[in-house]
Amino acid sequence: MDVVRIRGGRRLAGTVEIGGAKNACLPIFSACLLTAEPVTIRNVPDLSDVRFMADILERLGATVERLDPHTWRITAAQVATRAPYDLVRKMRASVCLMGPMVARMKRAEVSLPGGCVIGPRPIDLHLKGLSKLNCGVEIEAGYVKLDGSRMRGGEVFLGGRHGSTVTGTANILMAAVLTPGRTRIDSAACEPEVVDLCRLLISMGAKIEGVGSHAIHIEGVEALHGADYSVLHDRIEAGTYLLAGAITHSDITVKGAQAEHMAAFLDKLSEAGLVFEIVDAATIRVRGDQSDLRPVDVITLPHPGFPTDLQAQTCALLALIPGLSIVTERVYPNRFMHVPELGRMGADISIEGPSAVIKGGRPLSGAPVMASDLRASAALILAGLAASGETWVQRIYHLDRGYEKFDEKLASLGADVARLSDTEMPKDLSVEA
Ligand code: EPZ
Repeated sequence: MDVVRIRGGRRLAGTVEIGGAKNACLPIFSACLLTAEPVTIRNVPDLSDVRFMADILERLGATVERLDPHTWRITAAQVATRAPYDLVRKMRASVCLMGPMVARMKRAEVSLPGGCVIGPRPIDLHLKGLSKLNCGVEIEAGYVKLDGSRMRGGEVFLGGRHGSTVTGTANILMAAVLTPGRTRIDSAACEPEVVDLCRLLISMGAKIEGVGSHAIHIEGVEALHGADYSVLHDRIEAGTYLLAGAITHSDITVKGAQAEHMAAFLDKLSEAGLVFEIVDAATIRVRGDQSDLRPVDVITLPHPGFPTDLQAQTCALLALIPGLSIVTERVYPNRFMHVPELGRMGADISIEGPSAVIKGGRPLSGAPVMASDLRASAALILAGLAASGETWVQRIYHLDRGYEKFDEKLASLGADVARLSDTEMPKDLSVEA
């Protein structure tokens, strides 16, 4: 397995390019099952999750062609109706297969996803939504069995105890576009990635109104045709690099960062004293070298609130800002696996229920740390950029799920970051030895 070694304390400079959004690509790949015609998808990030979703589609019978590292063409002329456990358990986002499979094939069997380190990850809202479209839903032997033979449009409310559901909204959208009649989704997720999926579906001939709002209306159509679509940029990757500039007191430019998708994040970090320059609609410059930072309180919420996917990375920055910051997780209350690892680097953070209480200002020192999930990995690398000495981040396969060439992009900004084999790690530092 690989590790990432960071030698902290370096200033960064220059420009970094953001790739396509992982969390738009995964439902968009699933949407290719809705038509027998070719769908070309561009600006796709080169990530293990994306390659895995492509493998699943191929296993289901689609023809999957990779035209270049960031362009795929998927033709689902034939589609199986069973997504097996050995695939679904490895990536929760594969639950997005339910909607298109049952809409196109009128039946589907999809393994129930497991939980993961950030929380139990239930799909009750997905199943509630499908049943409101008169889809038969049974759970048997760890599989969801769907009967779509009598589906018709209906009224679906997708609000749960943590707000709406992103992939749940995607699933119901993809089911409804081929379901006869009108469907209304209330408390729909309005993340930019859901908007991107709607735009793809409309380009395939779907009839959808209320895109980007919490109330979406769909008029079912007989069939959808192929499309050629370019995915939006990844606001979470963009926020991660803006935080890299902040945590190293650097002046860097992030191309592909769309301020309109990041309002809550930019507002909160500006409240902390960060200076941003909105260069154009898709470029943000962070003036970490001009910023006098102060502690802030953060609450993660569904979009347009502060994104939970930038919570861990923000904790790394707040650990360095003198004073008391409180970070409260309203989406995944247990999403604090990064906290004990930041603690190993000297951060003073305690967990009080759904909140991390951060007594910031202590300098961080490099240490061997363990990645536990995608965003925690990024948080630990950001902390390593600011820490004195060497930080070794292990199990970075988590990182590869959502960040393309993270080490190379940081190194291009001047960071001392190297991706090495774990055999190159000092033996007394490795837990894998
Ligand atoms: C998507 O996950 C993202 N993944 C997550 O990104 C992101 O953190 C999350 O949305 C929230 O923004 C993809 O898009 C592939 P949810 P999703 O359904 O759709 C509860 C990353 O790091 N819930 O919006 O699975 C759920 O437990 C990943 O890139 C139910 O209770 O999230 C959570 O507390 C991590 N019942 C909340 O809602 C349901 O049926 C939000 O979940 C569904 C969800």
